[in-house]
Amino acid sequence: MKILGIETSCDETAAAVVDYSRGETRVLSNFIYSQVALHAPYGGIVPELAARKHIETLAALVRKSLEEAKTSMDEIEAIAATHGPGLIGSLLVGLSYAKALAFGRKIPFVGVNHVEAHLTSCWIEKPELAQKPFLGLVVSGGHTALFYVKKLSNYTRLGSTRDDAVGEAFDKAAKLLGLPYPGGPAIDRLAKEGSEKAVHFPRAQIKNARYAFSFSGLKTSVRHEIERRGGLTALSEKDKADVAASFQQAAIRALVLKALKAARDKKVDDVVIVGGVAANTRLRAECASLEKKEGLRFHFPAFKYCTDNGAMIAALGGRLLEAGIHHDETLPAVSRLPVGEAA
Ligand code: KG4
Ligand code: ZN
Repeated sequence: MKILGIETSCDETAAAVVDYSRGETRVLSNFIYSQVALHAPYGGIVPELAARKHIETLAALVRKSLEEAKTSMDEIEAIAATHGPGLIGSLLVGLSYAKALAFGRKIPFVGVNHVEAHLTSCWIEKPELAQKPFLGLVVSGGHTALFYVKKLSNYTRLGSTRDDAVGEAFDKAAKLLGLPYPGGPAIDRLAKEGSEKAVHFPRAQIKNARYAFSFSGLKTSVRHEIERRGGLTALSEKDKADVAASFQQAAIRALVLKALKAARDKKVDDVVIVGGVAANTRLRAECASLEKKEGLRFHFPAFKYCTDNGAMIAALGGRLLEAGIHHDETLPAVSRLPVGEAA
């Protein structure tokens, strides 16, 4: 079944064509138009600009995806689009476009939960992971949450962040250090020049919540540390690198400790890490070093499936359609769409 997938939940416009059949996904095309440069001068995403840019770019991106997939619209058998969670204006662009196209063409339409698509994106390259439960850690600019994924459409949310998402913490810490937006890759690079032990940032203590995260205190600690050293202008390059490395280590430690705890509690063998922060080289190194010791396998989908993309939307759409799930033209965009049951 050839499926067109459309993703516009945040600041990336994405479209893809996949060929899905019985658990196997072939990605025929996967295009992302990044709005990073548009939002960079503001130090964060401006929702109205994001929605307006989606309107400008989506149709051309869909045409490009069809071309690359050597497929005409006549061969597309279904359309999947993100209907939440995300920025409401952004969501409405992709969802309305996808529904209009599907109903105009009289082909099935399925609305996909963006976070569920991230969680199941590992099934594109490793379909065998769909055969048994795993632990999913979603770490992006908008989300930080830990899930127990039993099977398709059966997700238990074990815990999530009480305040900032971890990617947001990277972005804010980077801003405090005078680094460009998005801050994650900039901190990742700079941290390589610094010492992780230079500053001891305290770990957030969250009462009565085994798997919850909190990153706003860490961000505040970074601000205090910079002030203690006389402010940003007084910092040497080495100082900045030390603060970046110590911050990164603290953020990653918090993620890894909670994931390990949950993996032991839930007795899973596989931990899947997705979202923009999964690109972090320190996080990957830490997980690799833990694999043997903990008897776990960590999986990081290819970067193109890890960050926001259309292939994960189309691939999950295929599985949902196969399970008999589809939607009519009334499906709303929902900015705070929950994922699974809370534990
Ligand atoms: O998943 P994503 O591309 O978009 C959404 O938030 O939905 O994630 C973007 C986030 C940003 O906060 C960015 O700073 C962070 O991922 N990020 C990283 C790295 N690359 C991107 N954070 C830490 N280390 C990285 N190498
Ligand atoms: Zn995302």
